[in-house]
Amino acid sequence: MLLVMHEVLDRLLIRKHRACFLKYLSLIHEIEVKTIVEIGVFRGKNAKVLREEFPDAQLYLIDPWKLDPSYLESGSAVSENQSVLDKAKEKTYHLFENDPKATIIEKTSIEGTLFIQKPVDIVFIDANHAYSHVKNDILTWKEKVRPGGILSGHNYGRPRLPGVMQAVSELLSSFELGQDEVWYSIQEPIPG
Ligand SMILES: C[S@@+](CC[C@H](N)C(=O)[O-])C[C@H]1O[C@@H](n2cnc3c(N)ncnc32)[C@H](O)[C@@H]1O
Repeated sequence: MLLVMHEVLDRLLIRKHRACFLKYLSLIHEIEVKTIVEIGVFRGKNAKVLREEFPDAQLYLIDPWKLDPSYLESGSAVSENQSVLDKAKEKTYHLFENDPKATIIEKTSIEGTLFIQKPVDIVFIDANHAYSHVKNDILTWKEKVRPGGILSGHNYGRPRLPGVMQAVSELLSSFELGQDEVWYSIQEPIPG
């Protein structure tokens, strides 16, 4: 049994993928994962691996797929062309069209919070990477993670996206780094 678990953990780490790392974390910390929110979805590449690794979880995929000025000026936009985002949105809808446990929310991160009424097990922030946005995302979404759940995000340490490191280091008193530029913080469980 122990050997099987080791094999599973090894497989997750060998892939060096953000979604696999989140699965790894959930296993080693024995975190039951029923709901995951991904903020910033683009083509659904990470969402697809999240689905593979967490087949029974309710997935909430939040992305406006819009090149608004704040995103364009953030230095983190995936493209300067709206048609790229339009195609990415289409691709995501296609990937999840037969998935009753995936909800696509075409809203910005902050607007998206209104659609999430219950505490969630994992939040993964990977949207507008400008400092002020990552800061707002952390402050807003931290409140949505259940005690003992995982608040996390992408691109910590990427030189082109310094706002991530700045916001995470400033706002989270305890956080850790994982594979594939993941930062994470396991929320304080309720004592007792
Ligand atoms: C780096 S991509 C996400 C990649 C995806 N998480 C993955 O790993 O496959 C960033 C996405 O964030 C979205 N985005 C930009 N501003 C946003 C905001 N304010 N709220 C939510 N998503 C946003 C963009 O439309 C883009 O699709």
